[in-house]
Amino acid sequence: MDTMDRLKKDLVETGKFGRTPPRRIERYDQLDPEKGVTRPAGTEENRKVRDYAVERMREAGLTVKIDKVGNIFGRKEGSKTNTGTVMSGSHLDSVINGGMFDGALGVFGAIEAIRRMNDEGFENERPLEVAVFTAEEGSAFSPTILASSVLVGKMGVDEAWNRKNAMGQTLGEVLENIGYKGSFERSLDDVEYFVEMHVEQGPILDKEGLSVGIVENISGMMWIMLTILGSENHAGTTPMRIRKDALVAAADIVSFVNKRANDLVEKLSAAIVGTVGRLNVFPNVGNIVPGKVEMVIDIRDVVQENMASLKNETLKAAKDIENKYGVDIRTQLTSLHLPVTLSNEVINMIDSSARQVGIVPKRMNSGAGHDCLNMVKRTKAGMIFVPSVNGISHAPLEWTNWEDIEKGAKVLTQTLKNLSRL
Ligand code: GLV
Ligand code: MN
Ligand code: MN
Repeated sequence: MDTMDRLKKDLVETGKFGRTPPRRIERYDQLDPEKGVTRPAGTEENRKVRDYAVERMREAGLTVKIDKVGNIFGRKEGSKTNTGTVMSGSHLDSVINGGMFDGALGVFGAIEAIRRMNDEGFENERPLEVAVFTAEEGSAFSPTILASSVLVGKMGVDEAWNRKNAMGQTLGEVLENIGYKGSFERSLDDVEYFVEMHVEQGPILDKEGLSVGIVENISGMMWIMLTILGSENHAGTTPMRIRKDALVAAADIVSFVNKRANDLVEKLSAAIVGTVGRLNVFPNVGNIVPGKVEMVIDIRDVVQENMASLKNETLKAAKDIENKYGVDIRTQLTSLHLPVTLSNEVINMIDSSARQVGIVPKRMNSGAGHDCLNMVKRTKAGMIFVPSVNGISHAPLEWTNWEDIEKGAKVLTQTLKNLSRL
């Protein structure tokens, strides 16, 4: 099997996990727009993809260890001692109904890079390590990029273990259930470089017909949870004038976030985005005036002050809306990751490595969050992007062409080889 087939096989095989029914998908036209992959952290489907990755790591000669929050590390020692480790990887959990490349590409791409080095008899001087981070997506356990937050010391192990999913299970519990609550304590003191390959999840590379991007900045991510308390009552008998309709208030907030983010794109920053993607309406019954709504507002930008502007304006608008409809609005900041700039040294190394294998990369920013956003706090970190067809991700129609995946794999392999000899 040639090298591309090997990486393609890993992605196609693991693309079955969390898909109903579990189907091998090798081409874009085989995708079902309604049936993506669902393998949130700690589920049985998440265990299957983890087991598959661990098997591939061991086959590639890596020594595998699991830490307390389920992060997986597969290590290959180097020929010299006392030189900092070069780490590469991403995540294997998914959003609900997402794509088969988000996260998986960075994990299997890193394993494939090691296999290519093994095939060539390449001698790495620094140790190389493949990492799989737990609960990147935030769709089962919030905040997002959870276990890499523990790894870099932003969050304690107990705090992470105690986070609960929608079923009320704790992260500690589900990791135990799937056999991934380890005991390894991975200090990052020896890790000098981190490189994550990922699908862009946006439209830029695809639109420009380019195959490889290098990330310079990653947008910060903020989640504000709003609970709007109105007055639940009969839809047929409650006069319009005396209603306290929580959903009507929520609708104004949804519109405000969208409109204001659009204005700020013109005035402040092309990268700013504001989204309400989650709305729980109570009791969610056709003939009852909604008494309560919970919503999550997601705000992102590459500049922290811009995120704060949109947040402050939204909270001010919420106050006005509260008065207008006579509802009570409670707000809670449930997730905050500030924007980061990645390592210049790694950016330049990815750039020269890409050119070495005949690829001209594009410098760009990432609007999506990644574990790299955490890793850059403790290591010199960088990211390689490959295109997302039509800019789609976090959806069943997420796709990346195999030729682009091969180019990304070439750039990642060359980058890791070069870093391992620095
Ligand atoms: C994580 O994938 C995010 O960007 O929300
Ligand atoms: Mn991802
Ligand atoms: Mn994602």
